[in-house]
Amino acid sequence: MEVLAIGFMLICASSASKLLSIDETETLFKKFVLKELNEQETVTLQELFELLRLPRYVPMTRKQKMGYPTTRAAFARNLECIACRSIFAALFEGVAAGQSDDQLVDTLTTLCTAMGIQTQKVCSGAIELNLPIINYIIRNTPEATPWTFCGLLLQTDLADECPHGDTRFEWQVELPAVPESVVTPTLDPRPLKIAIVTDAHIDPMYEPYGVADCDEPTCCRYGQNPAPLYRLQRAVDDELYERTVVEQNGVTALNLSVASEMIRQRGLYLTTVAKQTPEPAGYWGDYRSCDTPLWAYDDVIDRIAETHNDIDIVYYIGDTIDHGVWETSFELINDMNRHLIEKMRTAFGENVLVVPTIGNHEAQPTNQFAPNRVVGELNTTWLYEALVDKWGPYLTDEAKASLLERGEFSVRPRPGFKVITLNNNIAYRDNWWLVYDPTDAKRHLDWLVEELRQSELAGEKVHILAHIPPGRADFTHTWSREYSRIINRFSSIIAGEFNGHMHSDQFKLFYSSTDGAPIAVAWGGGGATAYSNYNLNYKIMDFDTTTFEATSMECYTYNVTEANLTPNRRPHWFLLYDFKNSFDLPNLSPISIDNLVNAMASEGYYLDLYAAYYSKLSDTRWPYCNQNCKIGYLCDIVITELWNRQKCEELTQRYMNRLQ
Ligand SMILES: *[C@@H]1O[C@H](CO)[C@@H](O)[C@H](O)[C@H]1NC(C)=O
Ligand SMILES: *[C@@H]1O[C@H](CO)[C@@H](O)[C@H](O)[C@H]1NC(C)=O
Ligand SMILES: *[C@@H]1O[C@H](CO)[C@@H](O)[C@H](O)[C@H]1NC(C)=O
Repeated sequence: MEVLAIGFMLICASSASKLLSIDETETLFKKFVLKELNEQETVTLQELFELLRLPRYVPMTRKQKMGYPTTRAAFARNLECIACRSIFAALFEGVAAGQSDDQLVDTLTTLCTAMGIQTQKVCSGAIELNLPIINYIIRNTPEATPWTFCGLLLQTDLADECPHGDTRFEWQVELPAVPESVVTPTLDPRPLKIAIVTDAHIDPMYEPYGVADCDEPTCCRYGQNPAPLYRLQRAVDDELYERTVVEQNGVTALNLSVASEMIRQRGLYLTTVAKQTPEPAGYWGDYRSCDTPLWAYDDVIDRIAETHNDIDIVYYIGDTIDHGVWETSFELINDMNRHLIEKMRTAFGENVLVVPTIGNHEAQPTNQFAPNRVVGELNTTWLYEALVDKWGPYLTDEAKASLLERGEFSVRPRPGFKVITLNNNIAYRDNWWLVYDPTDAKRHLDWLVEELRQSELAGEKVHILAHIPPGRADFTHTWSREYSRIINRFSSIIAGEFNGHMHSDQFKLFYSSTDGAPIAVAWGGGGATAYSNYNLNYKIMDFDTTTFEATSMECYTYNVTEANLTPNRRPHWFLLYDFKNSFDLPNLSPISIDNLVNAMASEGYYLDLYAAYYSKLSDTRWPYCNQNCKIGYLCDIVITELWNRQKCEELTQRYMNRLQ
């Protein structure tokens, strides 16, 4: 009833254009947080919500979903930037007024729900978990502004569209000169075989045959409700967003008169979905935003142990915890981290070295990694301590001390060979602590440089494990640029990088900043989860015992659709590809991979193959990857520094030329 009344008022008021400047918008949100809105302002705020409302239930066709670009049009993003800054400005005001965490959680939950961002339960859960950190950062960081938070939060791959202008984010690591002489270690000639497992995302709440199409961001969990029966057929027209932001006499303003049209259009696009019973959640995992059942994770590990009894090492590249980010707990994280490693130790025995890495989901709350000087209850040391305890059997005292201090460490499996696990989650844009201290990220790269310098002097080759792949909008520009500089400087000793996070099977190729030659490959591990629209996988890789470069890479998977037809039988794992053979390569060196990337652009066949393997032949992703989607995959390979899209554009051009 209330909603109808507001809609009516808007329609009556829409004859004149009603403009709200950015300052007025901010003031409105501030008054909302301070509970100082009068009646008229309350109505105006409602109109604003209509303009800013996210299209929550837009069931895009799979085709749309898999196509690129997936980001909203530039003017819609511009609107998001304005909205984000206003909301954070209001939050700063609330903090300055000394409001308690509880008060702020209430207000923000109302905003989050009113703007259709998530359900009440998800909004309040996520805000409750995150607000104490944000509040602490606002109170203790004089340089922090609403712009800083939003610049990180809304950063995209395309350009710096909601810039924060915070100069603290600009820093450089110091790179040592190349030494004149290095040691030549005596190497172990025995073959080296490594299993790669990543992104287990084990969900202890997984309910087989439960609700897979639910009203929360992660489904297949006990106690969930089905998605609502009414849905938007499509999002509001881009043209409406475009008309929302207007410039008048050099002042940017929002045209509130557009709100009535938005309401009208949403009304037109809103349809009741035919009452149908969606397929219940599969037993062995589910393509629809569902994490991994415990038994499916166990099956991955048992399968590796049974099938590949000659592996020497296992690389685990992070993200053990589920995507129920609005209701994670210390207990959940501890239990899953313990299960993950105990299962591996039991299945592989004590003679197989496991090198685990921390993922962004391991933190409480998700993504939040505080610098180690943050003490008190918001610290991240609790996680590092807990992992020292669980991963202890695989670590030296030195590695334990390093893990405890920073969440990263190195180990030497053999003479002349070092494995570094880098905790790059600290530089993830969703980590609020970046606002508190953007140079904490630098300290982690300084540590990496020191590790590499020591290995260089010792004549060692190095593998780097890091959860998040380089070059993505997930990182600040500075981080990706500096990481690239480090790879350039030390490419002669870096024999491979290994990442997780994406769940898709992909890789990255670095080029020299001086002569453009291919210098290093960062291999993606794929993921042991179906989240979302993927088949699960693990990899088996062989390495040269002198250069420690990969000599072969096999990927194993199962068809989730097929496995779920026979819940009582273990999934049928099969060899999806042997990379070298499938792509007709003589070896897996950066030069060969560069040849492959060029062939993908000029001969569609190899890119088609890559696109098929990308989702591991997922029934709900592979068939829907259109041309834009494939170009996106190709570009992702060569973008290793944020916003540096030159190589991507060259390849795209070549791919398009071929089609003409
Ligand atoms: C604001 O939107 C209304 C309704 O669409 C339109 O009539 C009016 O011209 C717009 N005003 C400006 C300044 O663009
Ligand atoms: C670190 O945080 C955890 C979780 O809030 C807390 O239990 C622990 O006491 C904290 N440690 C210190 C030293 O404050
Ligand atoms: C997966 O299994 C289902 C059910 O047997 C089948 O229909 C589908 O074609 C399979 N997918 C692939 C890529 O083979």
